[in-house]
Amino acid sequence: MTDPGTGTTFDDPEALRKRALAALLTARERTALLTSCVEDPELTAQHSPLMSPLVWDLAHIGNQEELWLLRTVAGRDALRPDIDGLYDAFEHPRAERPSLPLLPPAEARNYAAEVRGRALDILESTAFEGTGARLTEAGFAFGMIAQHEQQHDETMLITHQLRRGPVALTAPDPMPVPAFTGPAEVLVPGGPFTMGTSTEPWALDNERPAHARLVPPFFIDTTPVTNEAYQAFIADGGYTDRRWWAPEGWAHIREHSIDAPLFWRRDGGQWLRRRFGATEVVPADEPVLHVSWYEADAYARWAGRRLPSEAEWEKAARHDPETGRSTRYPWGDADPTPEHANLGQRHLRPAPAGSYPAGQSPLGVRQLIGDVWEWTSSELLPYPGFHAFPYKEYSEVFFGSEHKVLRGGSFAVDAVACRGTFRNWDYPVRRQIFSGFRTARDARPDSV
Ligand code: AVJ
Ligand code: FE
Repeated sequence: MTDPGTGTTFDDPEALRKRALAALLTARERTALLTSCVEDPELTAQHSPLMSPLVWDLAHIGNQEELWLLRTVAGRDALRPDIDGLYDAFEHPRAERPSLPLLPPAEARNYAAEVRGRALDILESTAFEGTGARLTEAGFAFGMIAQHEQQHDETMLITHQLRRGPVALTAPDPMPVPAFTGPAEVLVPGGPFTMGTSTEPWALDNERPAHARLVPPFFIDTTPVTNEAYQAFIADGGYTDRRWWAPEGWAHIREHSIDAPLFWRRDGGQWLRRRFGATEVVPADEPVLHVSWYEADAYARWAGRRLPSEAEWEKAARHDPETGRSTRYPWGDADPTPEHANLGQRHLRPAPAGSYPAGQSPLGVRQLIGDVWEWTSSELLPYPGFHAFPYKEYSEVFFGSEHKVLRGGSFAVDAVACRGTFRNWDYPVRRQIFSGFRTARDARPDSV
């Protein structure tokens, strides 16, 4: 299939091979940065019970790469059969990981590098075409492993955000933009659209297959909810008014004395936040960050609105009313560039609301991709026709009512692991992740 936006031929094996190589190299550069910006003791320490020690992520990245590329694709024997159990995320919950006999930093680095050297040889010698082994078709296994590493790079950045003390990571701030003066919300017309994908070569199992969804008309915020708007909710007593909260959310904020987004602290008349070791005034025009699903849900109710469903979010992001097609991204089918979206840890914060006009959807919805992961009202469920691939533990074991879906990616995730169909999920109480949201409301039939 040819991508009409970029002319990228997804069935050109050599183009995909190059794409896979570039994605693996980009991921490793990021991993190296995130694991070399602190001294080794910081890599083995646990900075939060919610997170693994950074050195666990590092060896786990190598171990998954070994498992899928060296052993499964190329049929090689295990390099270190003794360590598999340590890096199996299902054998040991995060809180337990610091007490395991983990590879020390130098060994973890060497292991990951040794695996990588062999993986690149396999990349060169594997057929990317073909209809036989689905795992290597279109280089899926290589794309999956690059995405996996980038997902852990986002996880490691979260660990750095949770760490106490200075963080030696720097990046330029996003460009300032004039205050957004466009319409606050956009009407998405009702009707069917194509949700999910059957053609994106490296889409993960839970994004498949493409299927028709009927979505009634609705309004959605043009930009993510800003700190300024969220502060109005706080100032209006939002955290002390039970009316706005789901019962479990209310119980949770009472029990944990939560009265503002994570990392925020009140200083006289203003809100401060800690961001990668430094304290700063909360910027009014930036999308709110580090809120739980319960906080997003309560804000929306206070505002007389609601969270969008996952289908609504994806329709707003992918449906082109002109052609009736679903595109890969809000701006079309072209791969993201720095003009489209804030991705890939190029900046260590979201860009002001209203940024990236070149990345807007045909209806004018902005910042759907990048900046902040957006909570949706939906539980993580399989699409009709789902089948687990290549392993049940990526998605299937998480299906059900425990997890809420987040969409669109944050400033911390690389483009390889972010697209209009990509689905992330977490528990509704979680807020150490780079999470924000936008709101929606039903469109009354007479307004369509
Ligand atoms: C899809 C982001 C929820 O980090 O738990 C990483 C991704 N899966 N290793 C996670 C993942 C296996 C996953 N999320
Ligand atoms: Fe993992």
